[in-house]
Amino acid sequence: MAGRLAGKVAIVTGAGSSGPGVGNGKATAILFAREGAKVLCADRVADRAGETCALIRAEGGVTSSFVADVSRRIDCAGLVSAAVGRYGRLDVLHNNVGITSRSGIDEVTEEEWDHVLAVNLKSMVFTVQAAVPHLAAAGGGSIINVSSITGLRVYPQGHTAYATSKAGIIGLTTTLAGELGGKRIRVNCIAPGQVYTPMVAGRLTPEAREQRRLAGLIPDEGTAWDVGWAAVYLASDESRWVTGHVLVVDAGITLTTRSGARFSDGT
Ligand SMILES: NC(=O)c1ccc[n+]([C@@H]2O[C@H](COP(=O)([O-])OP(=O)(O)OC[C@H]3O[C@@H](n4cnc5c(N)ncnc54)[C@H](O)[C@@H]3O)[C@@H](O)[C@H]2O)c1
Repeated sequence: MAGRLAGKVAIVTGAGSSGPGVGNGKATAILFAREGAKVLCADRVADRAGETCALIRAEGGVTSSFVADVSRRIDCAGLVSAAVGRYGRLDVLHNNVGITSRSGIDEVTEEEWDHVLAVNLKSMVFTVQAAVPHLAAAGGGSIINVSSITGLRVYPQGHTAYATSKAGIIGLTTTLAGELGGKRIRVNCIAPGQVYTPMVAGRLTPEAREQRRLAGLIPDEGTAWDVGWAAVYLASDESRWVTGHVLVVDAGITLTTRSGARFSDGT
């Protein structure tokens, strides 16, 4: 362990993976623990959180799981209470949960809209609300919200609810940075481009993976670990003067129209 997060207590929501492999929350929870944090791994699915905890414990890290559906305010409060009850304080809240939705404006239903916005955006409001008194009591802390480049740019396919939720996360990050800065609580956002996680693996053909690899400015595929390392920086005191920032992690695809505009798989 390199100790960049030594002494800190962190919550990671969506700390499991929705299939075999490593999702963004799982990679982040593992890296937080490797850097010395005690990590509460929250997930809607007990086995998924448990799998991440087992990997962390196998490396000697300190962790425990908590089953929560973050679209429910009561569960948001419960996971924060669990972290503080088990570890005595809270320093980092990593809001990672997100679900996809691929319907465009012609197809999106009221039910889908409400569900996606509740899971992706409302969840972050109420985890933060529960966490703020504890972060303030610790002398300050770091909140990291996982958005997406889909919140920053247009994709040809409709992802109306998903893209709106991800843009909303950027707005929420800005307003919370303003509200909470005086308490030394930093609020930042990570906007990944498509990285190869279980969430996207099921729908990507080998040709689409290769197209994405070549679409950015750096011709390498992204992984959940790329997102996790960005989170380690924002969680650590190395970023003590950074708040309200949107850290884009996308191999530069947002900067290019070369093949980026043609590449239609948002995430
Ligand atoms: N994979 C990508 O290419 C990509 C790109 C940009 C942004 N993101 C974002 O990264 C985040 C994680 O994505 P991933 O690809 O690792 O996903 P994933 O599906 O592998 O993991 C998500 C985890 O969240 C959990 N979860 C889902 N709904 C929940 C709920 N209501 N309450 C608690 N837990 C819940 C799932 O059980 C799962 O373990 C999401 O916010 C996603 O939008 C991913």
